[in-house]
Amino acid sequence: APPFIGTQSGSINNSSEENYADVDWDNLGFGLTTTDYMYIMKCSMKENFSRGHLTNYGNIEISPSAGVLNYGQGLFEGLKAYRKTDGRIQLFRPEHNALRMQAGARRLRMPSPSVEQFVEAVKQVVLANKHWVPPHGKGSLYVRPLLMGSGSVLGIGPAPEYTFLIFASPIGNFYKGRESLNLLIERDLHRAGPGGTGGIKSITNYSGVYETVAEAKAEGFTDVLFLDAVSGKYIEEISSCNIFILKDNVISTPATHGTILPGVTRKSIIKLASDMGYQVEERNVPLEDLLNADEVFCTGTAMVVTPVASMTYKDTRVEYKTGNETVTHKLHVTLTGIQTGVIEDKLRWTLPI
Ligand code: COI
Repeated sequence: APPFIGTQSGSINNSSEENYADVDWDNLGFGLTTTDYMYIMKCSMKENFSRGHLTNYGNIEISPSAGVLNYGQGLFEGLKAYRKTDGRIQLFRPEHNALRMQAGARRLRMPSPSVEQFVEAVKQVVLANKHWVPPHGKGSLYVRPLLMGSGSVLGIGPAPEYTFLIFASPIGNFYKGRESLNLLIERDLHRAGPGGTGGIKSITNYSGVYETVAEAKAEGFTDVLFLDAVSGKYIEEISSCNIFILKDNVISTPATHGTILPGVTRKSIIKLASDMGYQVEERNVPLEDLLNADEVFCTGTAMVVTPVASMTYKDTRVEYKTGNETVTHKLHVTLTGIQTGVIEDKLRWTLPI
């Protein structure tokens, strides 16, 4: 990486005259491509975060007795920086990621950055890595903020020191709104339970699904849909994204009562769909409504809006409408149009940097 030359975002010029990093932009996958810089800010349990800095991307040193390694005291976030047609870069609703991190931090008894600190740090990371923001239409720079108990602790309890870190990786347009998912409905395991941590972006919510997802993939499915842990009668979430169903003119998604991750894309789709005239319901969605739906789609920062082609429950396989004539496609085009600056951002969701 080139040497770091300043801590103020203004010292790195957001010009549209870009040199791009040496990446095969037409074949960007969904995996990690490391970039030049990351951001780090630390504080003790008794303080608030005050000042962080950019540094070269690389390994971090951490105590074997760190709270995050031993007791999972950690959160992550995900958001993207997009390049507009004129080469300029913008973020999409980053303050919502900051607020969600604060909510998770309260639950895990961690200090958290203010919304201003969070957004400023994201801007700094994106500007410092601006050569890695893909050209318009080729993908986006995925930004990954982490908050963790980095101090040593042996008796269970909050760590004495915390680290807020942000790294970034260019990622491709993995789905392009065309590919669709074949999901298996999981009958034995659950992603989250009432009173648990399903509603925060705890790092501990994600690896618990690896075994069941691997088994589903071995049977040819793309991913798994989880049902509620109490009755098993209502749909909840895919392993890393929210779910929506469409029946006639009504769009429904599981309500966020603690087991559902309150997705930024989820929230945005609810607003866009309502503005387009659909009736949007956040409610308990019974499995039979899913099996009778016209269209089904998933939402998430990584997934964007991805159509579901089929759901399999026991021996029953149900197929849904996909393709360019769907409401799912219309929502995908509208959302990504706003994010990449080709549709006017009347809702003021984007933040130029
Ligand atoms: C995201 O959509 O940003 C997520 O957090 C999902 C992640 C597990 C890839």
